[in-house]
Formats: sequence, structure tokens, C-alpha cells
Amino acid sequence: MTLANDLDIEQTRAHFPALRSGHIFADNAGGSQVPKDVVDRISDYLLNTNVQVNVDYSISIQSTQRVAEGRAAAARLLNAAKPEQIILGGSSTANMENLLRQFDGDVNAGDEFILMDGEHEANNGTWKKLAARTGAIIKYWHPVITSPENPFSVVHRVEHLTPLITPKTRVVAFSACSNILGSVVPVKEISKAVRAEAAAKGAQKVDISIDAVAYAPHRRIDVQDWDIDFCMLSFYKVYGPHAAALYVRSPVHPSSSSVAHELVYGSTGILPYLLSLTPINDLQATFDAIASHEKSLVDPLLAFFTHPEQRARGLMIVGSEDAHDIGRVPTISFVIQGENPIPSQEIVKRINRKGGVGIRGYKYSCTTEDGVQLSLDGGVARISLVHYNTVEEVHKIIEILKEIIYT
Ligand SMILES: Cc1ncc(COP(=O)(O)O)c(C=O)c1O
Repeated sequence: MTLANDLDIEQTRAHFPALRSGHIFADNAGGSQVPKDVVDRISDYLLNTNVQVNVDYSISIQSTQRVAEGRAAAARLLNAAKPEQIILGGSSTANMENLLRQFDGDVNAGDEFILMDGEHEANNGTWKKLAARTGAIIKYWHPVITSPENPFSVVHRVEHLTPLITPKTRVVAFSACSNILGSVVPVKEISKAVRAEAAAKGAQKVDISIDAVAYAPHRRIDVQDWDIDFCMLSFYKVYGPHAAALYVRSPVHPSSSSVAHELVYGSTGILPYLLSLTPINDLQATFDAIASHEKSLVDPLLAFFTHPEQRARGLMIVGSEDAHDIGRVPTISFVIQGENPIPSQEIVKRINRKGGVGIRGYKYSCTTEDGVQLSLDGGVARISLVHYNTVEEVHKIIEILKEIIYT
């Protein structure tokens, strides 16, 4: 019997035909694998209801309904109050860019946007472009270094965000989880602190914009509880097809959405898949079970990376090293520096050349609160796992890493 808090890993993996190959998918932050039911829905749409929507013949009524179901399902995944608060599109970056194009008249020169330093362009570049069009000013929320032994152990703390708020603050944009650093950022707590500080300083209207793309596969999103204004979710990172949903607090017209209808219908398979992971059909229970399983993946990886032997070899995590931090997802970025460094691209190449496993490298740069520029010109190597990965796979990855590092 499966307890509410336990994943039946074999049953979970059986949903994903791609996992049968035995390949270790360790680049999930780039995009996850897709359960068969999601794929079946895409082909069902194309095979049976592929007609123009919004016409009054029976098949069009069905296809219109299927697209509407996609918006409603995305609303449930984000816990939005209404489907009318969801924009669907090809990607989170495109959704945000399209939305912010409509905001030029809402922003005044001198308004201030606070952005999380080092974060993805989707919630960073889009706001910067709006600032460039309107004369708004960009300020950065920088991370701090948390381990004296590792200059790359960076984490963003709320106490360095709130002092940036002034009466002119108009936007605070950050990620609920970085696709590089892997720490879960306490959105609710931060949103509360931002709103209190903004009220105390007389900021009239502060929009909070959350990038939940790298967070969504690991933890439950709740835009209402978080009290936020925008939230990005890319289906292809959370067991769905290559499309995305954007939550906007003020309802938007369905015509703001532009995306392949078969992918919208396919995305309705994500929620039933997630709910099937525990016997109690509850999204919070699903994500509790996912968090608990993922901790069993994070722990051996962090133990390996922070072991004195690896430290002496120059192996360093880029992000939080805290093994006991329940807010750590199994996205582990790292570099090898010291006396015998290996460039990150070379690490990635050597691991992938082994065969049977796939990871990737990624660019990352940020400046710490103390003004230290992290020198990661060669980028990081990144292992990113999700709940369908197994502890056995983690041990295989560690064996491969050892071979590469010590031979
Ligand atoms: C944290 C994060 N935000 C946003 C995005 C962009 O998502 P999309 O490809 O849907 O624009 C990505 C993609 O890698 C990401 O990792």
C-alpha cells in the first residue's frame, strides 16, 4: 500500500514510456519527460477534434470545450480563482513579453522595478525591456554567500530585498526557484514582507511577478495564497507539452491566448497524472510526496559534493549546500576549480560521452550583496532531477562523476 506521503516509484515511472530505455534523464530543468496520457490527449485532439473552434457544429463545440478545459486545468495547477486569469501561449517568455507590451501606458519614468539578480530572462529581460521603453529604473536583489568554504553557495534572502523598496517601487520580480541554484524561495513570506514594506513606505501599487517555471515540477503553486499578480508556468517543465500558462491577477480576454490547441488539450493530462501519485487525489499530498522523494535524491548528491575529498578537488556547488533544507530541489549546479580545474563544458561533454545519462551546462552570473562578481565565465554543469528519478540513478551519476573527476 502507498502511504499519502510515499511515491510508488515503479508505478510513477510506468507513466513515462521514455523512461523504459534506461537512459538517466538528468536534464529535467531543461524539460521533463511526458506521461503517455498527455501524449494520448494530443493525438486524440488531432485525430478526432481538429477543427476550427467557436463554431456551432458538434465537433467544433467539442474542440472549443477541450481548449476551455486547458485554461481551467492551468488555473487549477496555479490555484487561480478563475480560468479568465490565465493566458496560454507557446512559452513563458513569449507570454510575458506579449503581456508587458500592453503595459507601456501603466508605467511612468522613474518608477522602480526590483529584479532578482542572476535570474532567467523570462522574468528579467521582459521587465528590463519594459523599463527601457518607459524610463523605469531597474534595481537588483542580490544573493549572499552562505558557506565560508564555498564562494558560490549563494542564496537570496528577504532582508536584502525589503530595503530596496521605496515609494516609487512598481514591480518586484523573482523566481520561486532558480533553474540553476535550486533553492525554493518562500514566495508567500516574501510577498507579505514586500506588501508590508511597500505600504509603510507609501508605494501606491506594487505588482509581484513570479517565475514558477523551475519550481512547478517540485512544489505546489498557489497564486492566491502567495498574493501575487503574475505567475509563469511552462507545461513542458512539468510533464506536459511545449506550451505555457501565465497567471494574471486581473482577468484577461481568451483572445490573449495563442497556442496550438492540441497542446492545450494535452496539458489537461498533467493534473490527473499528478493527482494519481497518491491515493488521496489531492494536489498538496502529491507535492508533499514529490518533495519527500526528491529529498532522498538531494541528500546523497549534497553529501557527495560537500565531502572534504571533493572540496579538496575543487568541486563546488553553485547554490545552497544545505542538505537539511527541505526547500532544496534536486537541481545541482557545480563547477570544478582549484589546482586542477575542468571547464564546465568539458565536464558536461565527458559525462554525456559516457552514454546512458544526459546533463547540460548553463551560463550563470550574479553579483553578491557585498559586490562580489561571481566569476563563472565558463558557466556551470547542471544535474537536474525530478520525482521520477531514482536513488539508484543518483548513485550511478555519482560513480560517473568520480571517474571524471579523479581519472
Ligand atoms: C526558471 C525559468 N524561467 C523561465 C524559463 C523560460 O520558459 P519558456 O521556455 O517557457 O519561455 C525557463 C526555461 O528554461 C526557466 O528555466
